Amino acid sequence: HFHAVIPAGGSGTRLWPVSRAHAPKFLHDVLGVGRSLLQSTWDRVEALVSPDRITVVTGAPHVQAVREQLPRLGADRILAEPSPKDSAAAIGLAAMLIADEDPDAIIGSFSADHSITNVDEFTAVIAQACAAATGGDIVTIGITPTYPATAYGYIRTGPLLALPAAPAARRALAFVEKPAAGRAREYTYSGSYRWNAGMFIARADALLAVMAEQAPELHAGLREIADAAPGAERERVLAEVWPGLEKKAIDYVVAEPAAAAGRVVVIPGDFGWDDVGDFDSVAKLRQPVRGEEHGVFSVGREVDVVDIDASGVVMSDQDRLIAIVGLHDVVVVDTADALLVAARSHAQDVKRAVARAAEIG
Ligand code: GDD
Ligand code: MG
Repeated sequence: HFHAVIPAGGSGTRLWPVSRAHAPKFLHDVLGVGRSLLQSTWDRVEALVSPDRITVVTGAPHVQAVREQLPRLGADRILAEPSPKDSAAAIGLAAMLIADEDPDAIIGSFSADHSITNVDEFTAVIAQACAAATGGDIVTIGITPTYPATAYGYIRTGPLLALPAAPAARRALAFVEKPAAGRAREYTYSGSYRWNAGMFIARADALLAVMAEQAPELHAGLREIADAAPGAERERVLAEVWPGLEKKAIDYVVAEPAAAAGRVVVIPGDFGWDDVGDFDSVAKLRQPVRGEEHGVFSVGREVDVVDIDASGVVMSDQDRLIAIVGLHDVVVVDTADALLVAARSHAQDVKRAVARAAEIG
């Protein structure tokens, strides 16, 4: 009864100018592996479940690109959102439609824009998560923190549960979303916190029951959409109801309250996970691929670079030579209409540049 949901939303502004409103991060081959982040996600998920049980939820403007990138995605397996309403609405709608088809469904939600290097380990951990979810708990995957990240949520882990099918599973005591640097440091070195990988595995009915309790209006709106007859009627109800839905993350609507009620399980997942949030992350992921640690290297399409006493990464879709002289840990991203030059250490601040550029127009 396992079904997968791939929420493909978010704008990925820290990866501007690669990631754009009309073509966000998940549609790009950000790591230069020959597949977009979305396609790599599809490949991992297709190893777990047949294509007729994979649902992609994305914004209406991206439906065509998603279909082109995922030829095996079923025509009725793509849900188009009239506007971005964050992950609770996206995952909730998919969960409802799946539960209506299959009342015993267990759903796994996998972000469209993450990178995983050890796919075999990922597959094994998700199998454990499915086993742990059968009793109605919400199961999450917890990554061992390797630095005090402020861009991730943290999960406070409790006692081992001694589940035969998932021996490393623990009770999750609480979720802390994107803590400030001081707290992040404390959590990272405490040994009792893990990064929230943004994956949720649960019985669809159990997840929806938490949503009904914590966000009754959101749940009722989604119910109205799911109850409408598929086709033109559902389109009509969707267009009418969607704009009024609450914009909230699944972490707030489901994970936090369920953890407070003692209904969340966390399974350690150390499979080389990264959410490819910014160019520093891209640079780190790119390095081991070709074993280069110094100098300037290109990510994705090979670029002509002359580097003199310089180091960093270059991404470009332009046919021109790039020369970098005397700058270290630099990020240069060259596209037809925008050029980014940033320090790797400030990769997170790229989103501020995007905000400023939007102000200027
Ligand atoms: N379809 C759809 N529509 N999907 C969405 C929307 C939306 O409006 N908003 C977000 N999503 C999807 C994103 O595509 C992503 O797959 C997932 O929901 C999480 O949303 P993000 O916006 O990327 O969240 P985040 O990265 O800030 O934080 C979450 O993920 C981290 C791990 O990457 C949280 O769960 C953190 O706790 C976690 O550490
Ligand atoms: Mg994210």
